[in-house]
Order: sequence, then C-alpha cells, then structure tokens
Amino acid sequence: MRDFEKLNAKEFIAKQIEEIRAKAGDKKVLCFMSGGVDSAVAATLVHKAIGSNLTSMLVDHGLMRKNECEEVMEVFKNGLKMNLFLANAEERFLSKLSGISDPEAKRKIIGAEFINVFNDEGKKLGKFEFLVQGTIYPDILESGEGGAKHVKAHHNVGALPEGFNRDMLIEPLKYLYKDEVRLVGLELGLPESVVMRQPFPGPGLGIRVIGDLTKDKLNLLREADFILRDEIKKAGLEREIWQYFAVLTGAKTVGMVNKERTYNYTLALRAVNSVNAMTAEFARIDLEVLAKISARITTEVKEVGRVVYDITNKPPATIEWE
Ligand code: XMP
Repeated sequence: MRDFEKLNAKEFIAKQIEEIRAKAGDKKVLCFMSGGVDSAVAATLVHKAIGSNLTSMLVDHGLMRKNECEEVMEVFKNGLKMNLFLANAEERFLSKLSGISDPEAKRKIIGAEFINVFNDEGKKLGKFEFLVQGTIYPDILESGEGGAKHVKAHHNVGALPEGFNRDMLIEPLKYLYKDEVRLVGLELGLPESVVMRQPFPGPGLGIRVIGDLTKDKLNLLREADFILRDEIKKAGLEREIWQYFAVLTGAKTVGMVNKERTYNYTLALRAVNSVNAMTAEFARIDLEVLAKISARITTEVKEVGRVVYDITNKPPATIEWE
C-alpha cells in the first residue's frame, strides 16, 4: 500500500534499505537496467542496501541513442562501482528485425527478444534468488494491483525471465510516481543527466526509423538525433522541452548539392510538451534554433537531404511516429 501523502525521500530511502536487506539477506540479486530512470534508481537503491550482492546488466539492443550505453556504464560501473555488465545484443536484435517494417511487428519482436536475452545472459551471470524491477505506481494502477499485468519484467516485456516468479521480485519504487522517483534518485546522489532524462521508449530507435531497420539507417539517425540534442542543450532548452527526438522517415527527397542532384532521406524533428504523455503539444521552438539544427544535420549527416519539423499535437498523432 502507498501509505504516505507527501514523499520524504530521505526517510523513504532509509526504510527501503531496511526492507531490501530484510528480504534479500545475503542472497544474490539480479537487475536488468534499461538506461531509463526507473531501473536506474531501483538498482541504485538496492546497491546501497546490499552492495556487491547485486549484479546488474544493461542490454544494448543496438537501438540506443548515441553514447547512451557508455554514459550508463560510466555513471554506474565506474562512478558507483556497481557490479554492472553490458550485454551486446545488437546482432541478435537486428537480425530478428531484418526486413520487418510493420510497427507492431517490430515492437513484438523487440519485446520477445528482450526476454530471450534476459534468459541467455542471466544464466551466464550465475544463480540469483531475487530480481530487481523498476516498477512504479502508475504501472500498478494501470494493471490493477496483483493483476496479471502487475508483473513487469522490463518496461517493454510482458514476462519474467526463466527461473523467477513474482515472490522473487524486489520492487522498491512500486508506490512512487515518476516525479517522486526522480526525487529519490537525486537524494541518492545520481547525476541530473540520469535522473532528469527525457522518456525513451523501450523499443528505442527501432520505432524511430520508419519501416525496416538497417544498421546504416540507425547510425545516421543516431548522428542526427545527437545533433538535435546538442543544439537543444546549447539553446538552454534541455529542461524546457518534455521530449525531443529525430525520426528517420521513409520518404526520400530530391535535393541539390554542389550542382549535383541528390536523392536522400527526409528527417523529421519531433519535440513535445506533456504532463503524462496521454496528450501532448508540439513545442514552439524558436525558428533560429530549428534553422541551426537543420543546417547542422544536412551538413554533418550526408544521407539526410531534408529536415522537417512535426507540428502535430497528440491527439490526433501519437508522440512516437510508430
Ligand atoms: P506515444 O507514441 O504512445 O508515446 O504517444 C507516449 C510516451 O510513451 C513513450 N513510448 C514508450 N515507452 N515503451 C516505452 O517504455 C514503448 O513501447 C513506448 N512507446 C512509446 C513515448 O516515447 C512517449 O513518451
């Protein structure tokens, strides 16, 4: 039960540490981190409680943003000295996704492959008695407490890895809302770059390359997305805009570079403001900032011939394009 009105992060952390220690004892605990805020804060809390008895793994599905895995490894492995491993599963995911262009099919394949990777990689790490999950209160409310969907092996996975059942779960954040998770993260000393990060979907860039995925398309989207983020940061808008990203559309477009005809990709920029992602308004970004982003992307990412800005609210559009 959620038994408090207003969260006191310090007290919450102290209480959770006690409870985690009582539950885990000196047993081994496993956590799959996604790079997102919830699993990061959950893992940090458990690490604080049981130290090296926690083993964590970050799965790189090859659909992460530029530098994302490196940043997670830096903060948690080098900084916090967590027992954190990186599983490079890019080939596995990309080969399963090869030639698939339907958005729902892509999502299903990614969700299923996560479970396969959890099973395979989990076994390599040894035997564990407990599994940490970054479940938060809205996840429970959405599914009804104790309901079938309560089990949340990962943001985007519907089942638990082999060998685990619900009694083996440690879910220290399950009565917290997202803003409270962030407060706990800050109180635990996690950097703002981790705690305040914008939402990022589990299927990652897989649903931001429209149509079928290739490594080349993902790489050029990663570069364009990085430029967008860099310019938003330089413009001081990083904390102003709720979510912003680039989308590699399937539309090819004609252009002219050095008097030569080009036929390249159309890249879309998406930036929205929202409270809970149920509705969203496109962000009114200054045109000068957009101009700079467009000029940099078309100069630095040769395969992009045209940049457009998405001016659609949710509804009728969703935030992600797929
Ligand atoms: P849509 O596109 O439905 O997105 O308007 C609403 C919010 O949810 C994020 N999103 C996801 N997050 N797994 C996630 O963890 C997913 O499969 C997924 N799909 C969308 C999206 O980035 C936005 O913040």
